[in-house]
Amino acid sequence: MSDLSFIRQKYLDYMVSLGHAAVPSAALVPENDPTTLFTSAGMQSMIPYFFGQAHPEGQRVTDSQKCFRADDIEEVGDNRHTTFFEMLGNWSFGDYFKKEQITFVFNFLTRELKLDPHKLYVSCFAGNPELGIDRDDEAATTWQKLFTEVGIDAKIVTDPTQGLQDGRIFFYGEKKNWWSRSGVPANMPEGEPGGPDSEVFYDFGEQKTALADHFHAVDGPCHINCDCGRFLEIGNSVFMQYQKTSQGFVPLAQANIDFGGGLERILAAYQEQPDVFRTAAFWPLIEKIQSFSQYKYDDVEKQKYFRIIADHMKAAVMLMADGVVPASKEQGYVLRRLLRRALRQAAYLDIKQETLVELVPIVVAMYQDAYPALVAQEATISQVLAAEQQKFSKSLHKGLQEFGKMVADKQELTAAIAFKLYESFGFPFEISLEEAQVRGMQIQAGIKEQYQQLKTAHADASRTVSKNTFKSGLADHGDTVVKYHTTTHLLHAALRQVLGESVEQKGSNITADRLRFDFSFNRALTAAEKQQVEELINTWIKADLLVDKQTLPKEEALKSGAIALFVERYPSIVNVYSIGANPNGTKSGVDFISREFCSGPHVAHTGVIGEIVLDKEKAVADGVRRIYALQKSV
Ligand code: ALA
Repeated sequence: MSDLSFIRQKYLDYMVSLGHAAVPSAALVPENDPTTLFTSAGMQSMIPYFFGQAHPEGQRVTDSQKCFRADDIEEVGDNRHTTFFEMLGNWSFGDYFKKEQITFVFNFLTRELKLDPHKLYVSCFAGNPELGIDRDDEAATTWQKLFTEVGIDAKIVTDPTQGLQDGRIFFYGEKKNWWSRSGVPANMPEGEPGGPDSEVFYDFGEQKTALADHFHAVDGPCHINCDCGRFLEIGNSVFMQYQKTSQGFVPLAQANIDFGGGLERILAAYQEQPDVFRTAAFWPLIEKIQSFSQYKYDDVEKQKYFRIIADHMKAAVMLMADGVVPASKEQGYVLRRLLRRALRQAAYLDIKQETLVELVPIVVAMYQDAYPALVAQEATISQVLAAEQQKFSKSLHKGLQEFGKMVADKQELTAAIAFKLYESFGFPFEISLEEAQVRGMQIQAGIKEQYQQLKTAHADASRTVSKNTFKSGLADHGDTVVKYHTTTHLLHAALRQVLGESVEQKGSNITADRLRFDFSFNRALTAAEKQQVEELINTWIKADLLVDKQTLPKEEALKSGAIALFVERYPSIVNVYSIGANPNGTKSGVDFISREFCSGPHVAHTGVIGEIVLDKEKAVADGVRRIYALQKSV
């Protein structure tokens, strides 16, 4: 077992021994959450439970959640930034709180993993009178006591900007020690939950970090949150106990714990290795890339390219495994950008682009124990990747010729040129920018903003991930979205009735304006079929069928005929939604017309949905169709 698998398992086992139920990772593409493109924190799928909805597995839950942070694509290249990572999570939904949580974290790190407590440092929230929230002395003294028990005199420091000052516990303001999906309190929309947090850092020592002292001159003395690389944040306990309202912060009805531990970073600490790319989470990939190249990872000039290829290829495989296909919009665009960026780096290591597909089996081997479905998906992922590579290699050739001309003419790279390169040759903006930099070209001031404007101005603008994705957050999650969610189940059922039971859901996405549904089918629908599907859905809506939720053991749910998109992803106790006259019955088509594993929410009766019209239907990948549906405007 690799150290990566060992730590994941050790953590889950430890949390289970403390009464938590281990649940599978949610997908990297959130289901039925129109507010964000990717799962980027373990808590995203847990929000309803902070507000009191009962989790089917109880009040203590643990998992290792796959996460993808598109905002970090550009950051990849140093010794610790990655786009894909796993977040070890434990949750208390109104059960244990601060003291227990801090003790769990300390014991896991020092007793289970046997990390040296002398190398652990922590931060706590300094408080803010404007928010009416006090300094978190309770967290600080809890940590202090735990350190004392292992013979460490842990000094509490109130002003970390003055450096370490022989301290071990440091108070920081809300920029560092407050957590919500949308960041600091001021950025949180009303309705959003959040709270102070307490982070643990691992000290790699001054000697081991290549970047040491680099930022100190600018930033003042080194402190645990400084960017020099000496200290690495490995875990964050959020005390999820407030909700933002028009009246300021009010306590939630229950105080919750949201812990997020970076699996790869804890592994780095465990292996005493400040470079995550040298740990078990990346090294097999780096070794494989080295085997293709005349260069070595030790060659400092080339390290960045090894890291980008390893990170991007791993992330791409994991995204594809969760149903993302390269495309010009949304998740598909981000995937394309990753793949093309990785493929472009190959040239800098004198590697043929075609060889990168050989990294797929390495990723599968690294992750198949935690995500067994990867094994069956390997061949398809490799095929999609090879096809994308061929497409890109053609466009790259043409695009590079254009760049050659621009350099000869001493042209500056402008937003207009970058956009043309994107439209004509599929050159992602970031590659144009990198190419211009490599060639020493001038770059138009404000190119990023202007490029964005051009893209938005075009009807088929590619949407990238915005840092503010959550701004509209819960507000959007209104009635319309819930109606579309139930309509998605009706559409799925209607497609299976009209086209046959081989039709399977491949993905779904809902906004306040429409629903989108991907399904397996190998040709376009005829006009008659489309009409039949639409009529069927509207008949069910008019019949005002009951929508019923049941919480069942997974096996029983499967036996009752419920459809699950990815069976293995569900916990052992699941929610099942049935739509039909007799939701407790067992006979599909008579007792119920749809029965699916789903976390909801849904409408109570289909009648409230209103008439639905089907919109465009098209192919999105081999054997996968995409269809849109929306409410008929009245
Ligand atoms: N939700 C917290 C984080 O993502 C744990 O850091």
